[in-house]
Amino acid sequence: MRLFLDTADIEEIREINRWGVLRGVTTNPTLVAKEVDDPERVWKEILTEVDGDVSLETTDPEAGAMYEQGKRLAEMGANAVVKVPMTPDGLDAGKRLTDDGIRVNVTLVFSPAQAILAAEIGAYIVSPFLGRIDDAAADGMHALRQICEIYQMQGYQTNVLAASLRHPMHVVDAALAGADIATMPYEVFAKLVKHPLTDVGLQKFASDWEGLQEKLKEGA
Ligand code: E4P
Repeated sequence: MRLFLDTADIEEIREINRWGVLRGVTTNPTLVAKEVDDPERVWKEILTEVDGDVSLETTDPEAGAMYEQGKRLAEMGANAVVKVPMTPDGLDAGKRLTDDGIRVNVTLVFSPAQAILAAEIGAYIVSPFLGRIDDAAADGMHALRQICEIYQMQGYQTNVLAASLRHPMHVVDAALAGADIATMPYEVFAKLVKHPLTDVGLQKFASDWEGLQEKLKEGA
């Protein structure tokens, strides 16, 4: 399962990139708005920093304008993936973009039925939003499992990207469900690396090593 960072913050991207595990980035209008900067500059910096897919989201709701915007976004970098929403216009624009050979990520997906539509337009990625499904008192992980199962049964090539992940167990369960990609905020990435026994073990190794140095000094 490829690990993506869900952010438009270049410092967060640089930090996770340093770990050698970052395979891509997803952005959305909310995340880009947080940077309070020219979106084109923000996207370009991310596309250059990341050696992997970077999803850039369209904002025009009308199919024709969305298609034109999607073409411009795709031209920003060879690693750009164009996000379109799960709406009739999004499907229309998304199909035209995939027909042009542009890689499309269908976003704001909340059900297996919507995921079937995304696969049928030949999307490169489908993004079910697990956390937001949970927020609506439904089972996001169940929806993800169903999507993965349907895609396997039907032989769909669209990559399943588990999105809106809120904690490390979302990431683990998404991997068990067979998701191709998991995208998560920086805070969740930071939690993945942490374990209290790692900290305890590290402290013990450090104090034992220190003790050895003292003993060697005393003996000298
Ligand atoms: C994915 O592409 C989305 O940007 C993201 O995962 C949304 O997550 P949220 O529900 O935490 O905003």
